[in-house]
Amino acid sequence: MVKSPSRCRDDPVDRVTENGLPCDPLGSRPLAGCPAPAGAALSGRTAPDATAATRQRNKADEIGANEVERVMDRNRVIIFDTTLRDGEQSPGASMNQDEKLRIALTLEDMGVDVIEAGFPIASVGDFEAVEAIARRLRRAVVCGLARATRGDIERCAEAIRPAERGRIHTFISTSPLHMKYKLQMEPEAVLARVSESVALARSLCDDVEWSAEDGSRTEPDFLCRCVEAAIKAGARTINIPDTVGYAVPEEYAGLIADLIARVPNIDQAILSVHCHNDLGLAVANSLAAVAAGARQIECTINGLGERAGNAAMEEVVMALRTRADRLPYTTGIHTEQITRASRLVSTITGFVIQPNKAVVGKNAFAHESGIHQDGMLKHAGTYEIMTPESVGLVRSHLVMGKHSGRAAFRAKLRDLGYDLPETAVDDAFTRFKDLADRKKDVFDEDIVALVDDAVVRGNDRIRLVSLEVLCGTRHNPPEAELELAIDGTVQKIRASGDGPVDATFNAIKALVPHEARLQLFQVSAVTQGTDAQAEVTVRLEEEGKTVNGQGAETDTLVASARAYVNALNKLLVKRQKTAPAPVPA
Ligand code: KIV
Ligand code: ZN
Repeated sequence: MVKSPSRCRDDPVDRVTENGLPCDPLGSRPLAGCPAPAGAALSGRTAPDATAATRQRNKADEIGANEVERVMDRNRVIIFDTTLRDGEQSPGASMNQDEKLRIALTLEDMGVDVIEAGFPIASVGDFEAVEAIARRLRRAVVCGLARATRGDIERCAEAIRPAERGRIHTFISTSPLHMKYKLQMEPEAVLARVSESVALARSLCDDVEWSAEDGSRTEPDFLCRCVEAAIKAGARTINIPDTVGYAVPEEYAGLIADLIARVPNIDQAILSVHCHNDLGLAVANSLAAVAAGARQIECTINGLGERAGNAAMEEVVMALRTRADRLPYTTGIHTEQITRASRLVSTITGFVIQPNKAVVGKNAFAHESGIHQDGMLKHAGTYEIMTPESVGLVRSHLVMGKHSGRAAFRAKLRDLGYDLPETAVDDAFTRFKDLADRKKDVFDEDIVALVDDAVVRGNDRIRLVSLEVLCGTRHNPPEAELELAIDGTVQKIRASGDGPVDATFNAIKALVPHEARLQLFQVSAVTQGTDAQAEVTVRLEEEGKTVNGQGAETDTLVASARAYVNALNKLLVKRQKTAPAPVPA
């Protein structure tokens, strides 16, 4: 909560002493005023009538348990998810408030410690989304981003005010290149701004994170001075981003080790890393930094983020879980929820996951070669280093037909990881019945596509009502008759084009005039067979802003129209956003 009294909890996110300073992030030096961790509560196991010997034994157990707690606590890595902020900065990604809230609730459910909900100064929409998330989340820390300016910091504090546990994340560039060309500020002025901005943020919120933008390309002595100043001004988390994805693991780990060795007050903050994937090293760099002493990783679902993206949360978490022998660090993530979160983010953003993507790609657990299949049949461990179940992947099987009832359908939704309100279950069930009438075999993937399709359409201002298309050898040019509901009013039009898809899109353009250019039109089949549902992605670009829309249906043209309309709805949201200036005023 903003400006709530400081206290010390066992959760490393909130390990603060009575005077508001964090407990030792690495657990190596106990700090004054920081009570014992949760393990101390295990003393409750002592029976009231215990003999001296039993008490001794219990005491030994207790010390053992506390030792385990202490080691575990020391090795607990805070997962900071920035899908809703850095992820949304991916060209083409845009989410409305409802979609952001849905993702935030999913992230909280899966055990994410800190959720960066947005950049409140960027637009009214961003502010409202951060505020709505702050109001709804109970356990996770809700964080907002702010440049090193009074306006940004105050706006951020206002947005996170309703949060149980809020955080202001303020940043400024510290590398010579950024200071000279982007900020046009002298290093001493930047250093002064670090202290001022963190102190201001700290006067508004107990939990402040400071980031050195382009930290990995910053001159080490200057970085040490900035970090020391930020901690002195009250920052509890210090983040060292590899903003342009330039670092390599050994070098980046060295930088983290150097900060730990050289910054005198470093024990009063948790060190965090934020790696971009321009050289494909974001996850490797993050893990190397943890081995060097960092205890917070900033990451995104599916590795979304600026340019080549950020470290992918699912990869970071599964690497830590699968290779605990070499990476003895824990997280609070319920990994069985990874697939569900990944699908939700992909559906909402319209970013299709590449099939060979680690952990969540369609092929991540597929075995095609005969030798591999043979090995798998003999022992799954021959070719699988983690189980599909550990990431919540449900094996594809035939589910139900048109005679399946509502109760079985509801149970199937639960199996697939959906926790929908009753009205949404009813809607999904109606669509399932409709699909089962048209499609012989209904697979898990069909149900996922059907439910996700409804998710992305939640708050759309433009909706597809009906579509009839005439095409074939006798209909030249093809014609589309289309009805759209625009802000609740149904409008109808007929248009022709060079092919049925072109005719459909021309009809949409005639009802919703716009200058956006079609950059991508992609169709894939959800399952096998000619009656498979088509999943269509449409990417539109308008004045440098890109959006992805998605649609799924057994009729490819209807799926295409849905995807186009979905992209237009996203464009309406994106038009309201103004890009914040790079230079703090
Ligand atoms: O990449 C970066 O440097 C950032 C900061 C704002 C944390 O996203
Ligand atoms: Zn970033």
